[in-house]
Amino acid sequence: MKKDIISNEEKETMEYFIENVKKINKTDEYKNVTKKKYFIETFGCQMNENDSEKLAGMLIKMGYIKSDNKEDSQLIIFNTCCIRENAEDKVYGHLGALKKYKIDNPEVIIALCGCMMQQEEIVKYIYNTFRHVDIIFGTHNIHMLAKYIFEIFEGQERILDIWDLEGVVVEGLPFERNDNIKAWVSVMYGCNNFCTYCIVPYVRGRERSREVKEIIEEVNELAKKGYKEITLLGQNVNSYGKDLDYNISFANLLYLINDIKGIERIRFITSHPKDMSDELIKAIKECTKVCKSLHLPFQAGSTKVLKEMNRVYTKESYLKLIEKVKNEIPNISITTDIIVGFPGEMEKDFLDTLDIVKRVRFDSAYTFLYSKRTGTKAALRKDQISDKDKKKRFNELLKIQNEISNEINRSYLNKTVKVLVEGKSKNNPEMYTGRTDSNKVINFKGENSLVGKIIKVNVNSFQTWSLKGEII
Ligand code: 5AD
Ligand code: SF4
Repeated sequence: MKKDIISNEEKETMEYFIENVKKINKTDEYKNVTKKKYFIETFGCQMNENDSEKLAGMLIKMGYIKSDNKEDSQLIIFNTCCIRENAEDKVYGHLGALKKYKIDNPEVIIALCGCMMQQEEIVKYIYNTFRHVDIIFGTHNIHMLAKYIFEIFEGQERILDIWDLEGVVVEGLPFERNDNIKAWVSVMYGCNNFCTYCIVPYVRGRERSREVKEIIEEVNELAKKGYKEITLLGQNVNSYGKDLDYNISFANLLYLINDIKGIERIRFITSHPKDMSDELIKAIKECTKVCKSLHLPFQAGSTKVLKEMNRVYTKESYLKLIEKVKNEIPNISITTDIIVGFPGEMEKDFLDTLDIVKRVRFDSAYTFLYSKRTGTKAALRKDQISDKDKKKRFNELLKIQNEISNEINRSYLNKTVKVLVEGKSKNNPEMYTGRTDSNKVINFKGENSLVGKIIKVNVNSFQTWSLKGEII
């Protein structure tokens, strides 16, 4: 049964602890004549980024200010990811490096949260090995952060609190968003699909949708604050609403958000091919603000591998689906996720992956080496692919995809595109940056007054990952 855990009573508890931490921070601030700083490092996907925005929102209410440097912060949080082994290794590296800092600065609080913490064995290991970590919490209880900080202030040595709740939706948390033009809005949490390589269903729990009124309220608020683009987030947004006790689909949600004044662009990630309904394709086509750009992971080309991955579609049905989408929405840009070296993947299976890549001609692809995740079905298989073979296939795939991305970007030359201006380019302060409707990064000479506006830019050069142009 779904439950809104920030009920009035619990909201009061959360606010009570936020207030208490704030009071303590205020006193310390007077003593030290400086505000306390927090540093959050986020690993992994946008869902984690979105959670970090909530953590930051709560911390600001507690009187902390943001820092971009761990080593001048009084509170350090790592929001972890466990989707692949290298994401976990990075966290271990960072933790090891912080040991000396904690010894020299014992008053600094180090906290860990996120997907890695939902795995019992990993938590045990971290708790026992990295004794300088003060607080460990999971993906279901981020709203308890103030309580944990308060308890550490009160003298508790270490806190470990992982909730194993299925069916929880947390509403009402404050946000400190990373951007003021584009915002992420989670529409659902968790995943029911159990792809055999994937750890997400084990660490994020079952699918649960937010109430439509909560989503609409959030987007309305964002529009009032001047946000122009929203990205709807979920592990599988296409199954939005299936768990709610009234009739609403993801397509219905798109129409509702399309009507919100002030919002100019709507994007969404991620879609599962098995849930890409005709109704949804029609909604993308009809909703003027929904960008004509679709992220549709296919993971592997071979029908045999897809079956073993539990993806419940075939090579042929995926290609048919793409054909249908392209027929309905001719200029749509399509991106994807691909895993190379799933257990038992033969050379001929890999050729099916390359075949899909060549036939669909994705604008870009996120390509991954298969990574064995303890607890998943595929991890038990004896026919794991050697690192050498995985890398060889990976490089081959990358080369072909890069050529295609390059050719697609070349086709933009001398065309005029509509760009939502995001701000100054990070790499080149003389340039401004934005994205096309098709989600391509484009850089151009601009000015501050254009930020947040949709302008026309003529493309005059390109690279594999971005375009360059001139405002017209
Ligand atoms: N190994 C490699 N890639 C993975 N992904 C998910 N699990 C694994 C794994 N065990 C990829 C999938 C998914 C993306 C977010 O991460 O391609 O779509
Ligand atoms: Fe993982 Fe598959 Fe769910 Fe995506 S759909 S989160 S790959 S289990």
